[in-house]
Amino acid sequence: MQIDPQEFLMNTYAPYPVTFVKGEGSWLWDDTGKRYLDLLSGIAVTSVGHCNPTVTKAITDQVGTLCHVSNLFKNQLAPQVAQMLNFLITGEPDLKGKTFFANSGAEAVESAIKLARRWGGGKRYKIITAHNSFHGRTFGALAATGQPVKQKNFYPMLAGFEYVEFGNIAQLEAACEDPEVAAVLLETWQGESGVICPSQDYIGQVRKLCDQKNILFMVDEIQTGLGRTGKWFGFQHFGVMPDVITLAKALGSGMPVGACWAKQEVADCFKPGDHATTFGGQPLAMSAVKATLEVMQDENVAEKAAQAGLYFYEKLQNINGIAHVRGKGLLIGIELQNQESAQVGRQLLQAGLVVNAVTPTALRLAPSLLITRQEIDLAIEIISQVLQADKVNAIS
Ligand SMILES: Cc1ncc(COP(=O)(O)O)c(C=O)c1O
Repeated sequence: MQIDPQEFLMNTYAPYPVTFVKGEGSWLWDDTGKRYLDLLSGIAVTSVGHCNPTVTKAITDQVGTLCHVSNLFKNQLAPQVAQMLNFLITGEPDLKGKTFFANSGAEAVESAIKLARRWGGGKRYKIITAHNSFHGRTFGALAATGQPVKQKNFYPMLAGFEYVEFGNIAQLEAACEDPEVAAVLLETWQGESGVICPSQDYIGQVRKLCDQKNILFMVDEIQTGLGRTGKWFGFQHFGVMPDVITLAKALGSGMPVGACWAKQEVADCFKPGDHATTFGGQPLAMSAVKATLEVMQDENVAEKAAQAGLYFYEKLQNINGIAHVRGKGLLIGIELQNQESAQVGRQLLQAGLVVNAVTPTALRLAPSLLITRQEIDLAIEIISQVLQADKVNAIS
């Protein structure tokens, strides 16, 4: 009897029965040759399109030159990329902040947690995060994630995390009365919980509170960063500057890489030996990041995402079967009217459209930031058709 090779993988995912073998721009092909319009980008990763030619060339050139040397030695690319990130974050060429490179979003968050504790000097170590937040699955990031459903099979959690309602400044104020609090860690939009938007005032109020209490304001921009919401970073919609920022996902266009940026005086709390990872900042990953950031700058992706997002919202709002649309730029949550998102997601996939059933009633879209108007029009046509057909199978 032949074993399905899928059985050799640990059973942590429940993938759709589709195997993608090729990608280009906003498009994917499966192993039968069927073509799909990808509105998910590997969960907000391939923001400059699948196999972007500039990124592909940079990686292929680098792979034949030098992939890895370890952090026992310097390499040319990591400092260049850190300087680029610092400029994008602060808008200034001078040294305002420093970056630690990791290999995933969760590891970027781990770095931020350790940095906050190091900054707290042993006396302040608690971190306040939000209910329904998502920060990753490693132990620190999981403890930071305000979702008992994801934590419960792995108790006890790492100590020192408290959770408040996202958007409720009074609750956060009360939590920050504790003198052991070192940091507040928030997403600007809660992507994994269904693209939950903060009120316009909230993020600014958090910044003010952190300043008053001398608490670090750490922003998880792993999903919202790098143009996704129509600005380079989500926090820029609120006119604030965080003390610590985590990035990953779109940073390497699919090359696994994460980053934790912190303003200089906070970053300088880390000393040699405090934190490390073998692959962090290696030339191969950095070549992908450098090329990705250059494409993002050259193509002005943030502005494109803002424009495309407005166009998408307007069209989505007119579709029968959609209760409401939320989000910012090209991070879009679609709340369905009386229909199960998982079923609609499967039907869309069959119809050649890749989306994500992010909650039982909502779909999430995070297409390439270079998606064209024609591709959006096609997506709208498919979504309208599927939602009309699906009315027959409505829950109530
Ligand atoms: C806001 C946020 N933080 C952290 C993570 C974890 O990133 P990774 O899956 O790369 O560990 C994610 C992943 O979805 C995320 O959306």
